Amino acid sequence: MSFDLVFFGGTGDLTWRKLMPALFQAFRHGKLPEGGRLLAVARDERSDAEYRAFIQERFTEVEASKRPSDEEFGRFAEMLHYRRMDLSQPAHYAGLKQWVDERGADTVVLFLATSPHLFPQICAQLGAVGLNGDKVRVVLEKPLGQDLKSAQEINRVVRASFSEQQALRIDHYLGKPAVQNLIALRFGNALFEPLWRRESIANIQITLAESLGVGTRGDFYDRTGALRDMVQNHALQLLTMIAMEPPSTSDADAIRDEKLKVLKSLKPFTADSVVRDVVRGQYRAGSVAGQAVPGYLDEKKVPDHSVCETFVALRTEVQNWRWAGVPFYLRTGKRLAARDAHIVVNFRDVPHPIFPGTRQANKLVIKLQPEDGLELHLLAAKGSGNNELLSPVSLDLDFDKAFPSARVGAYERLLLDAIAGRLNLFVRSDEQEQAWRWVEPVLQTWANDPTPPRPYAAGSWGPPAASALVARDGCAWAEEQ
Ligand code: BG6
Repeated sequence: MSFDLVFFGGTGDLTWRKLMPALFQAFRHGKLPEGGRLLAVARDERSDAEYRAFIQERFTEVEASKRPSDEEFGRFAEMLHYRRMDLSQPAHYAGLKQWVDERGADTVVLFLATSPHLFPQICAQLGAVGLNGDKVRVVLEKPLGQDLKSAQEINRVVRASFSEQQALRIDHYLGKPAVQNLIALRFGNALFEPLWRRESIANIQITLAESLGVGTRGDFYDRTGALRDMVQNHALQLLTMIAMEPPSTSDADAIRDEKLKVLKSLKPFTADSVVRDVVRGQYRAGSVAGQAVPGYLDEKKVPDHSVCETFVALRTEVQNWRWAGVPFYLRTGKRLAARDAHIVVNFRDVPHPIFPGTRQANKLVIKLQPEDGLELHLLAAKGSGNNELLSPVSLDLDFDKAFPSARVGAYERLLLDAIAGRLNLFVRSDEQEQAWRWVEPVLQTWANDPTPPRPYAAGSWGPPAASALVARDGCAWAEEQ
């Protein structure tokens, strides 16, 4: 199958930091279909050779095991082309269409790795020159809007040129192997399904913790904040995967219909419940992994009195028969104690304890990163004598060890899916809008609330109020248990 993969924003961070390394991995693993052309488009004048040199140079920033040798890069670079485009010029889109048409590849994927404010313009121009035929797909990278209204506006313009099946919204968390394993765990095995409900589960916690700060993205981040950057998309997508009903097939829409139902069942926030159930924080100076790091307000390009949140913890519920009354806690933040993304399913305690000593309910930990695996925590008898206390043990499954050669990274997987037209792991516009609808009261309440975010020291697990949020229900976060 021949394909053309075009990157708008071809010299930008996302392209060289994530997309090119992911494509190179796909190439190295022999997964990239033969007959592909990769075309980067951007504003400045460069030859193919100059662009290739630029990408090769950037590869020095990629972790060593994922870096190409000169020989490998030489072969990879044969696919790599560059084209100058002024995105406001219709003639430049006509030129691009001509470049694509001359070869007539089976599939054309247009990846918009630009700032989202350009999406409407790019999509309208692509439609105007007819670069939106059946074999064309457009990939949209987040952030897709700042709120419901702007997301709807982007979707309206995209829809004017591309059908829903042609528009692929990326949430790179859905490409992570652990997330596919979550679907496999739930719907490829019969073991957990009877337990996957309010009768057996006490609460569910989703943690997306980062140890990095905002880095050089202070200006972008300050307009965005953790709620828009991580909760509206990544955390909510994970929540839908955990809470959804079994889909009737593995088709993209069967899965996405079920995810949408979860989003529609989330307990709506009110101004009062935002104050009670949502904690926002902002990091202060501290130390991460033994290194002193500055506070958010001292980061480059961050305004002096910013009230932007770099941490969010919240409590919600999924209002349906399966989950009524079960708290779902989400938390995410920058400059936390560790890079650690995981989901904890806390089961209910035994109904009638007969053993002395330790009481500890079972829990299933789904680890997304840095490791990718599953842990099932149980109590067991050591067999060391009469009337012994039970001891905690865990069944550990490390997917990196179980499948040493077959793992592919999130962007690699999603790019291959985009080329192959597999839509399961892309977010449909109605899901995305529903997620905005749900976070909107939080954004509005914060906009009207002069109280600044709660401070937390870099290197901690966030403000103490996040612990109080779960303690109120008699629960604790994983690291506090
Ligand atoms: C992005 C956010 O979507 O996800 C970043 O914009 C965040 O702020 C990143 O750092 C986290 O992704 P990962 O895969 O490193 O957990």
